[in-house]
Amino acid sequence: MHNKIDLFNQTINEIEKIWSINKKLSDFVNFPKKLVLKKKCNNKINVTNILLDWKLEDNHKFEKLHNLISNLSPFVSWDNGYNENEVGKEFLNKYGFFELIGPTGHFETTDMALYVNFLDMNSHYPWHNHEAEELYFIVSGEAKFEKGNEAPVILKPEDTCFHKSYQPHRITTTNKKILSFVIWKNKFENVSKIVDPKGL
Ligand SMILES: [Fe+2]
Repeated sequence: MHNKIDLFNQTINEIEKIWSINKKLSDFVNFPKKLVLKKKCNNKINVTNILLDWKLEDNHKFEKLHNLISNLSPFVSWDNGYNENEVGKEFLNKYGFFELIGPTGHFETTDMALYVNFLDMNSHYPWHNHEAEELYFIVSGEAKFEKGNEAPVILKPEDTCFHKSYQPHRITTTNKKILSFVIWKNKFENVSKIVDPKGL
């Protein structure tokens, strides 16, 4: 039991350390002070074990952070946000997130929300949007990110991508998985919705 609590706290400390040296993160939102782990049940989904089995070696950027999150995978409350009618069963088997920090997170705060987001290889997360302003921060792996009418970009570890309120965006992976932080601020009560690309 102690190990699990240590793992949560080590992960938070590592995130705070990265926040303190990364201006993109600290400019987006201040890291919440004095976060305390609360009791929250774990929930396993298909990607829980895929992330648990995905470890990085020493020479990778954020190897320590990645492996802490990978070890945490069985103890967190995973969700995949959408239902089968919206995104299909295959996507739900390849996608998942958990709210590490936030109003209903493992660490509770109303200052912001930080979701740990996992997308397996050869996946397509369709166009979606939400009211919250959002910053993606890539921890490991890579994916193609698209927003509005802008040209697609391939994002890799330490890259960030900002999405304005209600700006549609989509993510595609090919031969790599991706682990990222999805950070929300302002109006994070409303969940993300799949949107019709024809309506863009
Ligand atoms: Fe988003």
